[in-house]
Amino acid sequence: MAEKKIRILIVDDIPEARERLQKLLAFESDFEVVGMASGGREGIALATELQPDIVLMDINMPDMDGISAATELRRSLPTVGVIMMSVQGEAEYIRRALQAGARDFLTKPPPTEELYATLRRVAEDVRSMAVLVSSEDKRDKKKIEVEEDHQTHIIAVYSPQGGAGKTTIATNLAAALMREGVRALLVDCDLQFGDVGVFLNLKPQATIADLIRSVDDLDTDLVNGVLVTHDSGLRVLVAPLRPEDANYVPTDKVPQLIEKLSSLFDYVVLDMSSRIDEMALTLFDMASRILLVLNPTLPALKNGVATLTMLGSLQYPEEKIQLVLNRVTPDLERSKVAIAVNIFEQRLRRKAFAVIPMDEKKVLFAVNRGISVIAKDRNQSPARDLIAMADALIEQLRPKQEPPATSQQLPAPAKPPASRLSRLFRGG
Ligand SMILES: Nc1ncnc2c1ncn2[C@@H]1O[C@H](COP(=O)(O)OP(=O)(O)O)[C@@H](O)[C@H]1O
Ligand SMILES: [Mg+2]
Repeated sequence: MAEKKIRILIVDDIPEARERLQKLLAFESDFEVVGMASGGREGIALATELQPDIVLMDINMPDMDGISAATELRRSLPTVGVIMMSVQGEAEYIRRALQAGARDFLTKPPPTEELYATLRRVAEDVRSMAVLVSSEDKRDKKKIEVEEDHQTHIIAVYSPQGGAGKTTIATNLAAALMREGVRALLVDCDLQFGDVGVFLNLKPQATIADLIRSVDDLDTDLVNGVLVTHDSGLRVLVAPLRPEDANYVPTDKVPQLIEKLSSLFDYVVLDMSSRIDEMALTLFDMASRILLVLNPTLPALKNGVATLTMLGSLQYPEEKIQLVLNRVTPDLERSKVAIAVNIFEQRLRRKAFAVIPMDEKKVLFAVNRGISVIAKDRNQSPARDLIAMADALIEQLRPKQEPPATSQQLPAPAKPPASRLSRLFRGG
């Protein structure tokens, strides 16, 4: 098959470095060096003119450094993949390169095989993204605007335990929220090991990493191109496909992306990772509800208490955090093998919002076929319980009757301080 060549622009201020790369790339028939530049400014000009697939960009250059040039390219040519190169392989350099929108990082001089593999991988990524935006000139770019009176509910599904069933709960909740006239979006926020795509048997062309790059300039067509549609009509934004690609997602921009997307939906369900970091806390702040998923085990009880204590200092309203007990086994509870639901309720000082029974057969069947649990036997547990949970949530979030008159002069909500993590450690 005659594949299209990968068109590469080399930007480096040292002539020998440019030549070495050019020679290395000449050995492989799928690469084509379309141009070379000796500085950031010239690199941007050539990239604009030549529209390469990839820019191999040195960091340290006298006129305009690689970081500034990459930042500019991300804005002006979002479908060109920048691979940053530097003699320094330190974390700080890599972090800055990725923040600037680089898709990968190579230490100089790059080992030949690594250079080839990185180029091919990044080229594949940018090409699928380019397909999505190629019609950009022709189409009427419809910017996403936040509607004044639009009510979106963000629901974060969280657990301090791995494997507690966050993804199971999130995918089924999102699917169950879908009904006539309701727009629901499921976002995989487990950037490293997100498996929503697998749970729902989706074939994503692009991921959250691609949308983040254009977060300042999103339009509805681009969003629609990147979101995948599940058979149920549910829209899904999947996590990066390889764990290492999580590094390329600037986590500080995820909340901004979710906020923009949320203006297009009625419900946005977030499948979180177990990690509590600045990104998670910002998303928790934005959420109408946090579903705390726990299994009936002693470690889960301990971690559940710890999570509530920690989030307690954020002073969320009581009803914001809801307890979801998953994999509940009444038999084992009766024989005191599993920790009983009422013990969880006492220790966590709240009623369980939902109790989802353990059902290896039905849940495994669903997950291994890439369908939601609720797609089958809706009147039987656990599908029935998952649907009831979604119904209860819709009911809770339904706008209450407006009190008459004076309600317009509500005080503006207090702005959260810059770092939410520091708020946790200061204890509120
Ligand atoms: N109620 C349940 N009954 C039986 N198995 C379940 C249940 N909930 C989740 N599982 C299984 O547990 C495993 C972990 O669930 P998952 O949703 O991936 O957890 P997490 O996202 O919290 O890591 C999956 O194989 C899933 O099929
Ligand atoms: Mg998961």
